[in-house]
Amino acid sequence: MEELMQTIEKHLAQLDYSHDPDGLYEPVRYVLSLGGKRIRPALFMMAYEMYSDKTAAVLDVAAGIEIFHNFTLLHDDVMDNADIRRGMPTVHRKWNENTAILSGDCMLVLAYRYLTRVPSVYLPKVLEIIDRAFTGIMEGQQMDMDFESRDDVTVPEYMRMIELKTSVLLAAALELGAVLGDSSEDDQHNLYDFGLNMGLAFQLQDDLLDVYGNPDVFGKNIGGDILCNKKTFMYISARRLADRSLSEELEHWAVWKGEPEQKIKGVTAVYDRLGIRELCRQTIDGLFNASLDALAKVSVSDAGKVGLHRLVSGLMNRRM
Ligand code: IPE
Ligand code: IPE
Ligand code: MG
Ligand code: MG
Ligand code: MG
Repeated sequence: MEELMQTIEKHLAQLDYSHDPDGLYEPVRYVLSLGGKRIRPALFMMAYEMYSDKTAAVLDVAAGIEIFHNFTLLHDDVMDNADIRRGMPTVHRKWNENTAILSGDCMLVLAYRYLTRVPSVYLPKVLEIIDRAFTGIMEGQQMDMDFESRDDVTVPEYMRMIELKTSVLLAAALELGAVLGDSSEDDQHNLYDFGLNMGLAFQLQDDLLDVYGNPDVFGKNIGGDILCNKKTFMYISARRLADRSLSEELEHWAVWKGEPEQKIKGVTAVYDRLGIRELCRQTIDGLFNASLDALAKVSVSDAGKVGLHRLVSGLMNRRM
């Protein structure tokens, strides 16, 4: 796995996409050089390597997936008003919002450039998969924003939203790996399913860390979701479990215009009172197990799945 991560990192670092003007490309180099977990290209490569050993042939595709993900982050950080990503200032804070928009757009185009570097027989299928995934992400991101101003979002609605904004890309990365590795259609389907459930668990964990994480490790400011009135699983569950007085407290914080730190503390205290952290943890475990059930259906030997197993087990206990 170490070796695979290094291969991905090296390939990303040596891509030659930068030309004039610097104002457009410097933010692209900046965000790509800040690291990140590189989960999506890793999932793609691991799926591919279950069926083929011609690793070098698909490294551009792996890079395209990661560049696409980073494009979504540039725009997401504008939408979420986030100051810090991967322990460093976000692009719209280091430069400005116009830069985040345009350099983000540029990354979307670069992503297509690298994602389509496949033998032409695969091209229609690749385009279909990324079209489906990328459209889903935009829909999920819009739902995420719409939910900020609603107070009646249900858990199924939340699950649908995170499936779109987060899971479909993890699932598509796995599916792409299987397609380019010439796997059976059943395997493509089961790997996609594995990614969907794992992605739900992954986003719940992200939401949990947004409240309870260590900012130095997590690399993002804590409490960002609370400040945006995001309708996370934790918030929706708190609303459901709260008695009258705790409900009123949540309503009070929802319209709070004072010191942001106080709001973060106040909402977190309500979560603590209701045991939301534990509830979230249990839900993550359930989704994680569902993802493993789908992985078990993939017709590859257990030895062939060790990499994927290790990667996702690590993710479920991640602090970053
Ligand atoms: C952040 O993704 C966006 C979410 C879907 C939660 P990651 O947690 O994979 O971010 P990096 O790429 O490792 O920084
Ligand atoms: C992000 O969800 C999903 C996408 C970027 C598409 P979040 O908004 O929770 O991601 P972070 O926490 O900013 O990384
Ligand atoms: Mg967001
Ligand atoms: Mg965000
Ligand atoms: Mg988040």
